[in-house]
Order: sequence, then structure tokens, then C-alpha cells
Amino acid sequence: MASDNDARKNWLYLTTPIYYVNDVPHIGHAYTTIACDVIARTSRMSGTPVFFLTGTDEHGQKVWQSAQKMNLSPQVYVDRIMPRFRDLWKTLLISNDDFVRTTEDRHVKGVQAVLEQLWKNGDIYEGLYEGWYCMFDERFWTSKDVTDGLCPECRRPVEQVSETNYFFKMSRHQEWLVSWYREHPRSIQPESRYNEIMGFLERPLEDLCISRPASRLPWGIPLPFDTRYVTYVWFDALLNYVSIPLSRPEGEETLGRLWPATHVIGKDILTTHAVYWPTILHAMGRLPPRLIFAHGWWTVNGEKMSKSRGNAVDPQAYAERYGADILRYFLLREGQFGQDADFSDTALVGRINADLANDLGNLLSRVVAMAVKYSDGGRFVRPKNHVPAPDLLEASRTLLPEVPRLTLDFEFHKALQALWSFVSILNRYVDNRAPWVLARDPEKKDELNAVLADLLEGLRLVGVYLAPFMPATASTLFTELSARESITGLSYETDGIWGKLPEEIALAPVSPLFEKRNPDGTVQKETRTASRPQDGAQSGDSRAEEPAGGAPQMATAQPETPAFPPGKPAIDITDFQGIELVPGTILAAEPVPKSKKLLKLTVDIGREKRTIVAGIQASYTPEELVGKMVLVLANLKPAKLMGVESQGMILAAQTQEGVSLITFDRPVSPGAEIR
Ligand code: ME8
Repeated sequence: MASDNDARKNWLYLTTPIYYVNDVPHIGHAYTTIACDVIARTSRMSGTPVFFLTGTDEHGQKVWQSAQKMNLSPQVYVDRIMPRFRDLWKTLLISNDDFVRTTEDRHVKGVQAVLEQLWKNGDIYEGLYEGWYCMFDERFWTSKDVTDGLCPECRRPVEQVSETNYFFKMSRHQEWLVSWYREHPRSIQPESRYNEIMGFLERPLEDLCISRPASRLPWGIPLPFDTRYVTYVWFDALLNYVSIPLSRPEGEETLGRLWPATHVIGKDILTTHAVYWPTILHAMGRLPPRLIFAHGWWTVNGEKMSKSRGNAVDPQAYAERYGADILRYFLLREGQFGQDADFSDTALVGRINADLANDLGNLLSRVVAMAVKYSDGGRFVRPKNHVPAPDLLEASRTLLPEVPRLTLDFEFHKALQALWSFVSILNRYVDNRAPWVLARDPEKKDELNAVLADLLEGLRLVGVYLAPFMPATASTLFTELSARESITGLSYETDGIWGKLPEEIALAPVSPLFEKRNPDGTVQKETRTASRPQDGAQSGDSRAEEPAGGAPQMATAQPETPAFPPGKPAIDITDFQGIELVPGTILAAEPVPKSKKLLKLTVDIGREKRTIVAGIQASYTPEELVGKMVLVLANLKPAKLMGVESQGMILAAQTQEGVSLITFDRPVSPGAEIR
């Protein structure tokens, strides 16, 4: 994070994008916000004062259209969706210092003040725009950008428009911007994104249309000098980064202390941040951002995440199911921040079972269990004049400081790898020193206590360095170790060094920090992470009699011939909510060529028409199917059957004669909600 401005300003002003409320939050939004939170917490623990801002982007065409679809006034609509973001950040333990909504008065005033300033300075002029317009991206395009009538960004059809609008003289800042970036090559990261922007800036920069006629789009901030227009949503949104500090007490001074900001964004909005935004700032007489970091993109099970595919991952549901910390850990451990990554339940469960339950959870359980067992009623006292094991001390001094260093360089996965290397060293230390062997020899009592004291101290340090990533887990660790009351006020300087665990601590057996999961995400019945077989083996511990994986499940409990075939494991409501069932009307049906079983159906599911291939030819003729209302599993991954892509599944019951389609006993609309 070191940059030219560090010496001059000590503050970290950190921002996420402000998210559109045209839809509910998904895992991509959570990713950026969690990453920023980890940076913010790490910086605070390093002694850097932080102002961390996030919020919602509530104007513009997309939001307006979503409100219209729901038959709501835009204000009522945004008031309804915004809490989904604000509450999600609470669930995910996000430590933002402010939350901006672009419909707030304080922001609206800030935007209008900037517009006035630029208008007076002659940076804004009125002109006729003739060309292509992408409704979805709310962007104008020239003929050379558009091929086949499609938007170069989102590949949706563009429209020809001709309208008078207001323009920001962006082109006049191009030369300055290019030389700024030449002198500050680290101000856009990763390097590939810097190169992308430098490539973009090789072409002449056009002026930026910053208004939309209110007759076409009434939802936005009115231009103060011509209220027949509203402000272009991007011009409005980018200004949040200055309007909010300015709206706080001693606004100009506050902004002066904080500016320039570090903007963390996804790669989709790099141009707006690295080209539009610095030129606007330059026109305002302010410095460009200190750093723009554009991270990679999450796919889901290898596919692009989108509303139409119905595969958007709901972070709220995942946090409720697994806990916020697990989601935080997974997102930052699984992906490399600048690169794309793939979200899947299999990968998530893999990380939970291996890294969290096995490596860390097990370490805590076994160390505390032994310290309780071999101490006086859980009162553990560090031996007098204790000298820590040199290997552990050395590992703590070399590995642990890497964690904040790598984090502040946005190398989250490497930071966590470094921390887990330390966890592995502690695990190996348990195995090598075998406290249960020492415990058999009364003369080795001090040696035993020394080993346990080092392990407990090591665990405390794990808690300190884990805190920015997994604040709740760190808190639990400190409670279990009687190390400190909470994570508030933690600092690397005072808490991040060896030897801060009180001399005498009260311990009690701990329940597993993390529950192991089955491949489908359900909790494994046997989540006995507390012991490895050898922990008590040689000391006569009753656990030694049990096999490593715990008692075999069900082997004796099941009747020889079950009365019913065993059902599937119970699911909770969030599993069910992940399934999209909708009523659909069959519009057309025809046999799939060369297939005796399959019919190709066209089904209207409300928001769109789907092609669905169903193996029902033996039970239904195409003619009798047309017009039938059926139940569709709409978010099943598309699959090719005899060369035809099937985009869903029609549900039916198996009978002895064939199949019987599930239908409705009263009229319903295609796409109606199934609960
Ligand atoms: O663009 N993977 O808002 P937005 C990773 N309002 N990150 C993702 C993602 C994915 N699949 N999908 C979204 C806007 N994101 C504007 C921003 S700022 C002045 C205005 C994250 O709701 C990523 O951070 O479309 C991306 O930049 C952001 O969400 C876009 O959010």
C-alpha cells in the first residue's frame, strides 16, 4: 500500500463501490466489502487511522426500471431494497464507518455543489448527442464501438438516440491523466489493469455526457442549472467518495485529512474509476485516488453469475447457514484477489473440513483438552522462568508479520497461507512433543506444562492474526484461552508478539470451533474434531478406545430390513430457498429427433421462455401437452440431451404406467412464487 502520499497523510480512506439497489446483494458484492473490511481491520490493528465507506447507488435507469416492474415508486422501492445491503454488512461483521445512500440529502447537495462549480468553470457545456445508447449500462456509444447493434460492454441491443444533453469536458484532461499515470504506475493495481487503462488512454478521450432528460428518466439528481435534466448515474455515484467526508463535521478539513482515497472495485467498473473519476477530480481541483484496486470476478460452478440464470449466490443465506466468518475465510482464501475465482459448495465444504475444522478447530480442541486434563481443575499456570521453544518463537517472528504485510498488499490468500503455515507448525509440535507421553512421567510435569504453555500462546497469536479475517472466531479463541475480553483495540504492536498470555488462565473443554460438513453442506453427525486418537492413547484416555473417525454411524442402529427406504438427509429452509420452482405453461411440444423417450418443450415461466427436454414421450403426446401448466425446476444447470440444451426440468411423479406431471388445481400465472 505504500505510495507517494503516505508520508504526507497517515489516514487510510477506503471505499467499496456503492452497489445498485436494482436487485438484492450477491456474493460478488460481499466479496469486495469483506476484502475492504479485512484491509480496514488490519490497518487499524497496525495503528493507521481508517475511514471505511460503503453504501448504495440508488438512482439511474436500472433502479427506476426495477421499481416500475414492482409497481412501486422509486423511493419506496429503494427504501425496501437498501436494508438488504445494510443488514447484510451487519451479518458479515463489516466495520464500515459510514454508509452512504445516494438519495440522501447530504449526498444530493454535494453532487449539486460540484455540478455548480464545474458549470461555472466552463467544464460543462450543452450539446446535441446523436448516436447509440445502451439502456442497461446507461452509456452512450459511437458507431465504431457498436457491432451488430450490440453494446460492446454487455452485448445487449443498443438504441439510436438524438437528444440535447450536458457534457463534461473530459477530453481536456486526457494529457494530464496519462502523465499522472506514467508517474504513478502503482496507483492502479494489479499491473494488468494499469496496462489496460494505459491502452484505453491511447485513443482520444471523448467528452462525457453527464445528464439524462427528466422526461425520459425522472429518477436522479436534478441539474442545479437546468432542472429539465437529471444527473447521469455514474457522475452522481462517483461523487459519493467526496460528498460523504464533506458532509461530516468540519467537512473540508475532514476530506483534506482523508483524501486521496483507496478505491477497491471489481474489474467491471475500472474505466469509470480510473478514467472518468480522476478527470472529474482534476476539474474539481482535487488529487486523483491514491490507489484503485480492481479485483477478479466470481463465477458459480464454472458459470457466469446472473439473475437470468438464477444462480446468484445469496451471502445472507450462506452466512446464516455457515456463519459469517466461514464465508469471509472462504472468499479470501479460495480466490486470488486480482484473478477470477469459482464459487462452489464443494470447494466451500472442502475448506471448512480441511483448513478450519481439521487444522485450526482440532488444534484448539486438542490443546485445550490436554491443558484442562493435565492441570489443576482447568487452572493452567505457566512454569516459572519459562523459556519458549526456539522453533516456535522463530516461526512466530518470521511467519506472523507476513500476514498483515501480505494483506495490505491485497494478497489475502497468501496471508492466510502464511497463518496456516504457523497453525501447521503448532500441530506438528503437538505430534512431536506428544504431551500425553510426558504426562505419564511425574518428573516431566514442568516439561509438559512448558509444551502446553507454548501451544496456548501460539493459539493466542493465531487469534490475533486471524482477527481481521475471522473476527468472531478470534473472539471465541480469546474467550476459550482466557486471553482477553474481546477483539476491540487489538494491535499488532502490543498483542502480536510472543508472550502476552497471562501467566495463569482458567480453561474448560471447548466445543468444536467449526463443524465438519457433508458434501451437501449439512453438518456431519460425527463432528468430533476434539481429538486425534493419540492425544489420549498412551495416557489411558477413554477416547483412545474409539477409532479415529469416531464410532461407526448407524451400523448397529439400523434395522436389518428398514420399513421404508431411507430418506434423504434433512435440509433446512435455506436449502429449499436455493431451489427455484415455478409454474410454467407449455407453449409447444415436439419429439426430439431420433429419441423414443424425449420431448422438446417450450415453456413460458413468466420472465422468459425456456426449452426443456423431458423424458415423457411414452406417457404424453405433444398435442395433449400444449397449454398444460406444469411445475418447473428453473435453476437446474442447463444440460444437453440428445444434442438439445435443456434449461430446466419438468417435475412429475413416477407411476407404474409411466409418469404423471405435477399440475395445479387452480389457475396460476407462469412464474408465480412457490412457497
Ligand atoms: O457497478 N464477482 O454497482 P453493482 C466479483 N453502482 N465481484 C462482483 C461480482 C462478481 N461476479 N459482481 C459484482 C455498480 N461484483 C455501481 C458502482 S461506484 C461509484 C458505483 C462487485 O451493484 C464488484 O465490486 O453493479 C463490482 O465492481 C460491484 O459489485 C458492482 O456492483
